Amino acid sequence: MSVEPPVTLQQLPADLDKNRLPKHVAVIMDGNGRWAKNQGKPRIVGHQKGADTLKDLLRCCKDWGIPALTAYAFSTENWGRPRTEVQFLMTLFERVLRRELQEMKQENVKIRFVGNLLDLPDSLRQEIDRSMADTQDNQGIQFTVATNYGGRHEIIQACRAIASKVEHGYLKTAQIDEELFEQHLYTQGIPHPDLLIRTSGEMRISNFLLWQMAYAEIYVTPTLWPDFNRVEFHKALATYQQRERRFGKVQS
Ligand code: IPE
Ligand code: IPE
Ligand code: MG
Repeated sequence: MSVEPPVTLQQLPADLDKNRLPKHVAVIMDGNGRWAKNQGKPRIVGHQKGADTLKDLLRCCKDWGIPALTAYAFSTENWGRPRTEVQFLMTLFERVLRRELQEMKQENVKIRFVGNLLDLPDSLRQEIDRSMADTQDNQGIQFTVATNYGGRHEIIQACRAIASKVEHGYLKTAQIDEELFEQHLYTQGIPHPDLLIRTSGEMRISNFLLWQMAYAEIYVTPTLWPDFNRVEFHKALATYQQRERRFGKVQS
């Protein structure tokens, strides 16, 4: 972490109700490139700073009692960026993982990667496999990183897996329900996000967790990801606590 959080924000701010915190926060970490451009620096500098921001958000979730965090690190569409940027990102993920694994183990973080991991560079996959294996028994915060992730791709691969079971006689069509479908998603076993935060002001979900987001509360801030600190997270949580989650029902 590059900067220590203000003393007042090391613990859950007093105006937040600890019983009404989201159990799972998902973040679309957008705006790294613009942040760097604003400083007259190359885009990769924004990605580097963005990694520090994520590290502190993870720690903040732990400090404030939020049990699950999911971060969108690389989408299936991000391969369409310049080769040098894609390569930089892959190397950055690998380097950060190698650097942070020991601390995540100590802090009882359970890390999981979701997405089409097979298409990632071998050396990154090795770090991913190692980090998941080394933290699988941890009972602390569930930290999920969506890498080469696309919601449409996830749904298609679930359909294929289910269709193949039907084809081979392991399943009947009538047995396919929401619960069974979810068991074939990458996020199997992880509760749905309660709160989705998107930085940099874009009002879209960019192929992130399409199924899982059905009833997430959405919070969009113009703040660019590298500037998304505990003060910003506090604002997002305060807004979340003002929302009335109805899930399609009416107040009795
Ligand atoms: C998000 O920041 C990081 C990734 C998608 C990997 P961007 O790189 O999209 O930054 P902007 O949106 O161009 O500013
Ligand atoms: C979404 O950001 C993907 C990640 C944050 C990894 P993008 O910058 O790729 O999304 P668009 O292109 O603005 O929709
Ligand atoms: Mg972007």
